[in-house]
Amino acid sequence: MADTVLSIENLRTHFYTRDGVVPAVDGVSLSVRGGETLAIVGESGCGKSVTALSVMRLVPAPGRVLAGSRVYFAGLDLLALSEREMRTVRGNKAAMIFQEPLTSLNPVFTIGRQIGESLRLHKGLGKKAAREKSVELLARVGMPQPERIVDEYPHALSGGMRQRAMIAMALSCGPRLLIADEPTTALDVTVQAQILEVIRELRDGSGMAVMLITHNLGLVAEMAGRVAVMYAGKIVEQGEVSAVFDSPGHPYTEGLLNSLPRLTGRTERLPAIPGVVPHPACLPAGCLFEPRCAKAAERCRVERPELLLRPDGRQISCWPQN
Ligand SMILES: Nc1ncnc2c1ncn2[C@@H]1O[C@H](COP(=O)(O)OP(=O)(O)O)[C@@H](O)[C@H]1O
Ligand SMILES: [Mg+2]
Repeated sequence: MADTVLSIENLRTHFYTRDGVVPAVDGVSLSVRGGETLAIVGESGCGKSVTALSVMRLVPAPGRVLAGSRVYFAGLDLLALSEREMRTVRGNKAAMIFQEPLTSLNPVFTIGRQIGESLRLHKGLGKKAAREKSVELLARVGMPQPERIVDEYPHALSGGMRQRAMIAMALSCGPRLLIADEPTTALDVTVQAQILEVIRELRDGSGMAVMLITHNLGLVAEMAGRVAVMYAGKIVEQGEVSAVFDSPGHPYTEGLLNSLPRLTGRTERLPAIPGVVPHPACLPAGCLFEPRCAKAAERCRVERPELLLRPDGRQISCWPQN
């Protein structure tokens, strides 16, 4: 079995807002091995992006990673690094791609300069070699006319092209870890397939570890080996994708799977999970999912279940009668 590349232990990231403390991520533990894809799924607001930002040490104010949280990456204790040391990790050994590429592209530099900069900084390439490599990377992510695009500024590109430029930049240094937060949501199906293929190639060829955050359970089935299901800042279920999808152990996972469109040849109304994710500042006393759970019993209202490891390797936080 390949080495663990990323290991998160008891991650707690809270936002200290005027209206109170928001425990956006509250006790998350997970790990990703080289060559593996771990998917993180869950409805909007469950803490997926904040988990990713915490790993990269990019949590915006008023958020803070609490003492006692641990993030180990390739032998480094990331939360203990100085900001300067962290900059040598970010964009080099660990890269992240977001849904909105404009936040990570600099409007005043050409695409080629931005991809080339990290190659020159982290890999010591000269100007000419960096430019050639940039063109090659752009071609690899399916950018049309890469020799021309390399000299364009981000505003001259369409949304899909910007997304591809950002992905080329993220992959430029051959990272050991790629965190992809809804990476292809805004792209059309063909481009999406192209990008997933590039990610898959790097993962299988160089043993890159991938943490894939997505709403798309079809994509999870296609790309990921393991899946962690998040609800209200916590992992409620974690295990092998095939096992979890075959027989979900948590009613929330079951609800997510039931709301997937099925190929029945006709349009069906999908049974969405009733209710909404609780606001992190006013959580229920017992199980966090209890107010929305069709199987909730009295115990669920008063006592919060812990995430327990079962003999088959699955982790589930749900009282046994369910
Ligand atoms: N800048 C912020 N200020 C206050 N609260 C925030 C901020 N960013 C995120 N949060 C809180 O963290 C929760 C988790 O957010 P996020 O990780 O972005 O969810 P998602 O699972 O959709 O990626 C949100 O519900 C929100 O309450
Ligand atoms: Mg998000």
